[in-house]
Amino acid sequence: MARFIDELKRTHHAGALRASDIDQEVVLFGWVDSRRDHGSIIFVDLRDREGITQIVFDPDTAPEAHTTAEALRSEWCIGVRGRVRSRGMQRSRKTGEMVSATNPNLPTGEIEVEVLEATVFGRSETPPFEVLEQLETKEELRLTHRYLDLRRAPLQRALMMRHRVNQATRRYLSDAGCLELETPYLVKYTPGGARNFLVPSRTSAGKFYALAESPQLFKQLFMVAGFDRYFQIVRCFRDEDLRIDRQPEFTQIDIELSFVNQDDIFRLVEGLIFALWEAAGVDLHELYPSGSFPRLDFEESMRKYGNDKPDLRFDLPHVDLTGLIVEHGGAGIPLFTPIAERFQSGEYRADLPAEIIKAMVVPASAQFSRADGDRLEKLARGMGAGGLARAKVGPGGEWTQSPLAKSVTPEGRAAINAACGAQEGDVILFQFGKASMVHTIMANLRLAVGKQLGLIPETGHGGQWNFLWVVNPPLFEYDDEAGRWAAAHHAFTRPFDEHVDLLEKDPGLVQCYRYDLVLNGFEIGGGSVRLHDPEVQARVFRTLGISDAEAEEKFGFLLQALRFGAPPHGGIALGMDRIAMLMAGTDSIRDVIAYPKTQKGTDLMTDAPSNVAAAQLTELSITSVAPNS
Ligand code: AMO
Repeated sequence: MARFIDELKRTHHAGALRASDIDQEVVLFGWVDSRRDHGSIIFVDLRDREGITQIVFDPDTAPEAHTTAEALRSEWCIGVRGRVRSRGMQRSRKTGEMVSATNPNLPTGEIEVEVLEATVFGRSETPPFEVLEQLETKEELRLTHRYLDLRRAPLQRALMMRHRVNQATRRYLSDAGCLELETPYLVKYTPGGARNFLVPSRTSAGKFYALAESPQLFKQLFMVAGFDRYFQIVRCFRDEDLRIDRQPEFTQIDIELSFVNQDDIFRLVEGLIFALWEAAGVDLHELYPSGSFPRLDFEESMRKYGNDKPDLRFDLPHVDLTGLIVEHGGAGIPLFTPIAERFQSGEYRADLPAEIIKAMVVPASAQFSRADGDRLEKLARGMGAGGLARAKVGPGGEWTQSPLAKSVTPEGRAAINAACGAQEGDVILFQFGKASMVHTIMANLRLAVGKQLGLIPETGHGGQWNFLWVVNPPLFEYDDEAGRWAAAHHAFTRPFDEHVDLLEKDPGLVQCYRYDLVLNGFEIGGGSVRLHDPEVQARVFRTLGISDAEAEEKFGFLLQALRFGAPPHGGIALGMDRIAMLMAGTDSIRDVIAYPKTQKGTDLMTDAPSNVAAAQLTELSITSVAPNS
């Protein structure tokens, strides 16, 4: 083996050789992708991260190498020395005729390497699954043998793309004057935001660090310290319920800037996004010639799409019928009437309704059947809806196929049809009840209908990139259960100057400089202009019901820092894994993370989390109450 590696250094990767290399002597290292024994001649597709090259073992030219090749099996790791030759017109050994053996599907398809010398670096047991581009095998099996899964071309491509995106991030942000600075992972637990992972301290018995859910407070302190512009490609840890676009540890491109307003931050981020897409081979200038992305008000986003991350590759807007129904005293519909009465009695405020009534029109062209409606109803029930009221619009605006048809007043029906812009043949879907619930259910129904109508691709981006800033959200949201105001995002966001006076008077109306960047219905980034004024900060805490003493105890270090000449500042964090997922056109974040966790947060390859010895717990002053520990 020493001759290879020590003397014979690799000359090319397996994706590199072309017709212009013919007659060159080369050394290639890689894995056996496939092996075909054609009588005396053996063909092997040699694979490495850059591609595949066909190598040929001929007993007449290199008998020893040919003997080695006879033993080769899939996934063995080998090295070869050989000569590049054309796969063009060759004489067939079988028929004696001249035939072309080029493979137009392979970048190296015009050549092959005639092997002169070969070595086996590592044999492979029969792999538990084939290392194929498209693989129909259980994900659990792939994750258990992730090192084999990672040999597959889509994963190699995804991780190599992440490399380019990382490099582009560093180049762009460094050129923009941002310093790459690091922040601790072991931090003080602070309440609010995502649930933290806790790490017991051995040296301070009974105390815990939290794993940082983001560098938020530290990057703000960098601004106070005068570093002016910061970025970090940083791992964050959140103990959340996992979804297709969530992992317990994930990577952010984290940015903070001093002396900027929201527009300055947007400009920097838009430039970064253009640079990242360029690194992935996409020019966004055609889609966004101005270089900036559209903006949508949070309120409009909620009203029309039911969430703050709408997929605007298709329309299908919601229509908020609450005001109209109240005006019509329930419009004769028994399901709606109690809500209208609660408004009329003054129980609900018109500007901050606790309950709403929303509709969505499925156009006649969709030929939406009763069965389609039943399927959607099942989906809605699965999300906690009581059902899915619907009506088909008939000639003259009559409603058919609907339990609402009997009771609705003609005026109410006409007003609803008009508000929805519903035409004959359209189907109107309704949801009513608690605002947050109605928004969520309707947002999911919009996606389901969009998918069913073929308006959005099942997976992948379908060549469309729909970026959107969602802006101007409220600073607070009312926590019904706790009966008090809570920070809609976190307590360090700067309210609009003209809304500061509302902090005590009418917190629900206070809007703030917070923004999310949305791509194709996924939130790929979020940030805010920060509150750098300690006085206003203290008022925000009071609105949240956090006393001065409590605020000092929990966030004292930040509040203190803000009292030492804090510059105005703001920033954002982009979700690197989500960006990579969308760029790669896959529907799971796990496909773009080298060693991801399962839906249950476990690592099947290393079997983490695992039990530890009782002595280790004792050392940490911890007793476990879990039954299996
Ligand atoms: P936020 O919590 O919005 O903001 O996070 C920023 C972005 O990170 C991504 N993200 C995730 N990706 C994968 N798995 C997760 N569990 C996960 N959670 C979040 C999302 C999200 O938009 N400190 C603030 C940023 C700031 O204000 O500057 C923050 O962390 O794409």
